[in-house]
Amino acid sequence: MSSLPRASEAGSRRPKGYLAGGIGTVYKLRAIRDFAFGLSRARNFDESLRLALMVIMGTFSILKGVIFLEENGEFHARVSRGLPPGILPVPKSKDLLRFLRRTRKPVTVRRKGTAAVVKRTAGELESAVPALSAEILCPLGTKKGVLGILLLGPTLTGQELTPRQRETLGVMASFLSANISNHRVVLEISSLNDVLRVQVQENKRLLAKMREIYLDTIRAFAAAIDAKDPYTRGHSERVAKLSVSIARGLGLPEEDVQAIHIASILHDVGKIVTDRAILVKSSALTRAETRQLQKHPKTSYDILSEIRFPYPDVALLARHHHEWMDGSGYPDAKRDHQIPVGARIIAVADAFDAMMSNRPYRKSLPLTHAIAEIRDYVNHHFDPQVARVFFRILRKGLNGERGKVPFLPKEGNGFSRREVLRFLDGTLEEFP
Ligand SMILES: [Fe+2]
Repeated sequence: MSSLPRASEAGSRRPKGYLAGGIGTVYKLRAIRDFAFGLSRARNFDESLRLALMVIMGTFSILKGVIFLEENGEFHARVSRGLPPGILPVPKSKDLLRFLRRTRKPVTVRRKGTAAVVKRTAGELESAVPALSAEILCPLGTKKGVLGILLLGPTLTGQELTPRQRETLGVMASFLSANISNHRVVLEISSLNDVLRVQVQENKRLLAKMREIYLDTIRAFAAAIDAKDPYTRGHSERVAKLSVSIARGLGLPEEDVQAIHIASILHDVGKIVTDRAILVKSSALTRAETRQLQKHPKTSYDILSEIRFPYPDVALLARHHHEWMDGSGYPDAKRDHQIPVGARIIAVADAFDAMMSNRPYRKSLPLTHAIAEIRDYVNHHFDPQVARVFFRILRKGLNGERGKVPFLPKEGNGFSRREVLRFLDGTLEEFP
């Protein structure tokens, strides 16, 4: 005798719920798969909630439903279907919370024998949505806590959900809870990002402010030297601007550019101990006076090496700003690449600005004369690469391709821009 049940027996054993039995299991898996797929395809969080509610209600033939989410001590209706708008928030009472924490599965509200606490909780929620006539209450949450409530009206047929249907609904609610939890994590991270972004902006502002204060202090220091030697007033600032332009033109790292900036402002700080009579002397210096004047790079180094600058080698750059490429400079007779690149840059900027300024012993030189001096002393005094970048900066300045160039004279008084440009073009042909 066959062990298979007869058709009449099989028919009598078929469960009434459409998700029950073998076919029901397939439906159940499909429903869950479609539900999870829908959640993952949603363009944003609200759309994912709308999709979730729609699929749940469609799966169980329910016409009315609402998803409440916990926000600021209340449960707010985030999405609803089949219900009029204006659903009020539900206070997060202790009773409600306790119930939601204890109850992990969907519960039927109006069933015979439903626990009083479920009825009471549903009553609390229903007062916010009287049109719903709640039948199924499904807590939404994770192990970490309560996230919300899914409240559903009666099925189209008026039949209660079967245990298998409630099980399917429970799985869907778990997916929905995970989705809500993920959204909260994303919100927390993005709010942390906002806090961090504000903090980073504030730090940048403070750093810029500190840098300004720091530079003002450095400038005040340089002004003390300028005050002693009126003929070099503004010299440090002009040398600094030109040095920074050359350093950037050479593509040096920003940290080196900043070191060169500071060093070029302070390169002559050692002149603070030089006799003023020597600095303002209009006739040739004696040997002793020259010796005293030539001590200033070493004194600059001694002063600056006591200061902890935020950039490397500031003191060394000041020490070597009078070294020449052929080793004939001072104080250490360094040559070529023994001289730090920053010092080679300051040497060109310093010499150029000195030639363009009135000195106690001579008037400023014409621009073409100063350019020719730099050109003629390339490899003897000046680094050819630095000189080339310097000539290009001058040409750009004269062509108006960059901002105001402070060390260029005004048109007129024997200065012809066109003439200097022609001269510069000829010079640059020697420095391809
Ligand atoms: Fe100097």
